[in-house]
Amino acid sequence: MDSRISVWKLIVFSQVMVIAAVTDQSDVSVLNAIKSSWQNLPPDWSGSDPCGNIWEGIKCTNSRVTSLVLAGMAVRTNSIGDIPSLSQLEYLDLSNNKGIKAPLPPTIQNLKNLTTLILVGCNFFGPIPDSIGSLEKLVFLGLNHNSFTGTIPRSIGKLANLTWLDITDNQLFGRIPVSNGTDPGLDMLVNTKHFHFANNQLSGLIPYRLFSSSMTLIHVLFNNNQLSGKIPSSIGLVDTLEAIRLDSNSLDGDLHRNITNLKSVSEFYLANNNLSGPIPDLIGMNSLYYVDMSNNSFDASDIPAWFTLPSLTTLLMDKTQLQGQITSDVFHPQLQRLGLSNNGLNGTLDVGNSYKSDLIVDLTNNSIVDFTQKSGYNMNLTLANNPVCEGGGATGRYCQPMNPNFPNRLPSSNCPAASCPSNKILSPNCACANPYTGTIYFLSYSFSNMDNSTYDTILHDALMSAFRSSQLPVESISISNASVNEFSYLQYKLHVFPSGQDYFTRSTVSSIGTVINRQQLFSLPLFGPLFFLDDSYCCFPGHKSSNIGIIIGVAVGGFVLLLLIGLAITYAVYQRRQAKKAKHSNPFASWGLDNGSDVGGVPELKGARWCSFEELKRCTNNFSDVNLIGSGGYGQVYKGTLDSGHVVAIKRAQQGSLQGAHEFKTEIELLSRIHHKNLVALVGFCYEQGEQMLVYEYISNGTLKDNLSGKAGMRLDWVKRLRAALDSAKGLTYMHELANPPIIHRDIKSTNILLDDNLTAKVADFGLSKLLGDDSKGYVSTQVKGTLGYMDPEYYMTQQLTEKSDVYSFGVVLLEILTARSPIHRGKFIVKEVNEAIGKSGDLNGLHKILDPSLGSSQNLGGLTEFVNLAMRCVRDSGVHRPKMGEVVREIERIIDLVVLSLDADSASTFSNHKFSNGEVGDLYHPYGDSVSDVSSMSLPFETELRR
Ligand SMILES: *[C@@H]1O[C@H](CO)[C@@H](O)[C@H](O)[C@H]1NC(C)=O
Ligand SMILES: *[C@@H]1O[C@H](CO)[C@@H](O)[C@H](O)[C@H]1NC(C)=O
Ligand SMILES: *[C@@H]1O[C@H](CO)[C@@H](O)[C@H](O)[C@H]1NC(C)=O
Ligand SMILES: *[C@@H]1O[C@H](CO)[C@@H](O)[C@H](O)[C@H]1NC(C)=O
Ligand SMILES: *[C@@H]1O[C@H](CO)[C@@H](O)[C@H](O)[C@H]1NC(C)=O
Repeated sequence: MDSRISVWKLIVFSQVMVIAAVTDQSDVSVLNAIKSSWQNLPPDWSGSDPCGNIWEGIKCTNSRVTSLVLAGMAVRTNSIGDIPSLSQLEYLDLSNNKGIKAPLPPTIQNLKNLTTLILVGCNFFGPIPDSIGSLEKLVFLGLNHNSFTGTIPRSIGKLANLTWLDITDNQLFGRIPVSNGTDPGLDMLVNTKHFHFANNQLSGLIPYRLFSSSMTLIHVLFNNNQLSGKIPSSIGLVDTLEAIRLDSNSLDGDLHRNITNLKSVSEFYLANNNLSGPIPDLIGMNSLYYVDMSNNSFDASDIPAWFTLPSLTTLLMDKTQLQGQITSDVFHPQLQRLGLSNNGLNGTLDVGNSYKSDLIVDLTNNSIVDFTQKSGYNMNLTLANNPVCEGGGATGRYCQPMNPNFPNRLPSSNCPAASCPSNKILSPNCACANPYTGTIYFLSYSFSNMDNSTYDTILHDALMSAFRSSQLPVESISISNASVNEFSYLQYKLHVFPSGQDYFTRSTVSSIGTVINRQQLFSLPLFGPLFFLDDSYCCFPGHKSSNIGIIIGVAVGGFVLLLLIGLAITYAVYQRRQAKKAKHSNPFASWGLDNGSDVGGVPELKGARWCSFEELKRCTNNFSDVNLIGSGGYGQVYKGTLDSGHVVAIKRAQQGSLQGAHEFKTEIELLSRIHHKNLVALVGFCYEQGEQMLVYEYISNGTLKDNLSGKAGMRLDWVKRLRAALDSAKGLTYMHELANPPIIHRDIKSTNILLDDNLTAKVADFGLSKLLGDDSKGYVSTQVKGTLGYMDPEYYMTQQLTEKSDVYSFGVVLLEILTARSPIHRGKFIVKEVNEAIGKSGDLNGLHKILDPSLGSSQNLGGLTEFVNLAMRCVRDSGVHRPKMGEVVREIERIIDLVVLSLDADSASTFSNHKFSNGEVGDLYHPYGDSVSDVSSMSLPFETELRR
């Protein structure tokens, strides 16, 4: 029997997969050692198979641990232990664990495949080991905000593929190492975009050799160190530079005019040094947004011409020996903040007419004698400590000292006067939940009017879309409390609210941290680079009780349990007698009594009815083989005719695959709510005498799969295939978009699409379906289930189920419709094969090799290109890039229109009648563990290096 063949196939696959799921033994022992020496690791680190059981924070490829992300999990340890022995590790993020008080051992060099190392915001101490230069594949190195001491290892210069080097906020000292012919140095990092060395104790000259025209740096952030001497003119050779921060060092001398070669620099900070000579002439640097050269020892000078550069948003030249009169063209519409305090500016202040209303101007402590004050001035201006304030030429309002604080804007709330329990916070969408919170610090930003909510919105949208594209269950975020700290870092408080539940899991907290700190899924050009430090998350789901606890509990509870069982049996017998008496008046009277457990009220059914075991037994000839029309791991499917005359398919669960009473009830309630002509309807159920049976309408013409392979007695032509695709897409659209709450099928495949007498396709078998709760935003985090070959790889990796997982499976079905092949055919995955067939040429010429020959020449298949494109969009790696089912329906309708137009009327679609035997309802499914072989890369999809 056909279904036996598929049973056999699945068994073969499951064994293959079981072997593949077993984690490499050496990785297991490393993780077990970590488990026994670190504190506060995720409670689901149990069992012997971290890859197969998917321990939180761990991702694997081919049974090897390739990603370890424990960001923000509040783990504690005094040693990172044997992590360096996870030799295939590619991605390591331990950031935001202040309880990691450990050195970074030289053995870190064993992680030869490591591309990403993020240790932001821990308590690593001791030197950065010289051996770090052996991590040749390293692309991202974030060691910021720790307690590293010692010098910057020159070996870092060997990391040829490094794009991001961040050692901000440590206690590193000594010189910036450059190569000298024998030893490496940072000047060799020609692919690195980011040198973030701020807030250390680096000293000595900035080496001339550090910069060259072969470099591709965009950020040089050396602020708050003890660097001295002249700024090397070679910096003018790095014409990719966008942000330069050399402020708060001991730099002196004058600035070479070559600096004006840097046409892309938008943030330029030289404040708090001893720079001398004329004020640098920045004419020609037409991308400048933010210039701060305050507190230097420049020669006295009139207002330079470049002050009027129209790109400037922020010009801070406090205490720079400026003199003479400010001209009104400095106050141009782009300018947000002008700081010229403590200079020798004199004459009459005229701000002109083109300044912006939220401009902030600080002219404290100058020699300004008059202010041509026109009516309607509304800028935030102070002239305190100028003659004009003593003489009464300006109103008191302009003579107040500058208030440097920004208003603490909180996001506006649309929530009705709701209040949350004391441990929860109201989200922007009015849900009470435990948000993950922290502070985001921006190291160089292009604007100054923090009280303009436009910037909040930009930041909000960028982060939110990064969370969405990573499929994180984030309901909403709020951005608040903008301020600038002592290091001129712009900081915001961030609240991230969970969706679905009122708290986050460890892995989600981790992913949020890694998405922000890796800063590759979003681009914030006006904000520049950032780092995120969290407030330890309050509310991780609790640890499971230990085995010892359970054993004690069982021993104590055993006696009590026996008593209770005795009582329960007595009660059940009593109830059963009562139930039998009541049977005729209440068809659900026997509900839930077979297990002696209380299942709550009878199921709320719409349309489906209760069937007695006797009736189903009778109508299937005592479940005789003659009536058997399908079988699988769950049990058998029989055809029968109910007393009412309805022809039905009865799915009878076998011992071992019975569901719990609650689950069964939930399932039939769900099924009974689904009413759509493209979904197989539930007619009734039976829950009696230890049996669980579902009674479906009988669908006569077998599965789509059999009708594609010819097994069902005919082969569908192109138009009929398109119609079947359209029908099933409509059924799915109903589930996703119209059912309330929406339902994810989770097991879409060609054996779960059935064709009736009219070849109308109907989607069947909702055994795995999940409701999407009303409050969630489309994510269900759940144990991964589905069928090998159809399963969405993204769902497999993230365990977060969305309706886009069904879209993926449906895409695979579309490819089957095209090729009449199984999704996994002679060990090859259909998605990959079609990709390869069309990939090289970019057109569909290669497709004929795998196109179902019974469809005839591809020339005659109208809409083929569109169909293939649609299928390939459905199977895109990332769910957000797949269309919704509604869109799929519209596209198939469009394709059918194309085809029907190109056909003559009589050949278009007359359905011939055929005789079919098997109306198999449903099919096997396999919980994951035995499925999906083709998940190629487990690391986060960080391929492109976004600028800034
Ligand atoms: C690690 O790198 C080696 C050599 O580059 C490669 O053969 C191997 O496949 C990599 N491991 C993983 C898991 O990618
Ligand atoms: C560096 O990157 C290039 C291009 O992505 C790649 O071909 C090369 O193998 C990488 N080098 C190392 C050592 O990983
Ligand atoms: C380069 O620097 C290293 C370490 O500072 C030193 O030992 C070596 O002699 C230098 N080589 C040359 C050619 O100056
Ligand atoms: C200044 O820049 C020019 C090219 O723009 C270069 O040739 C010259 O060497 C630079 N001067 C210094 C002192 O770096
Ligand atoms: C302003 O200062 C400049 C330079 O110190 C001086 O030459 C000029 O006379 C002053 N103007 C007034 C109006 O005081």
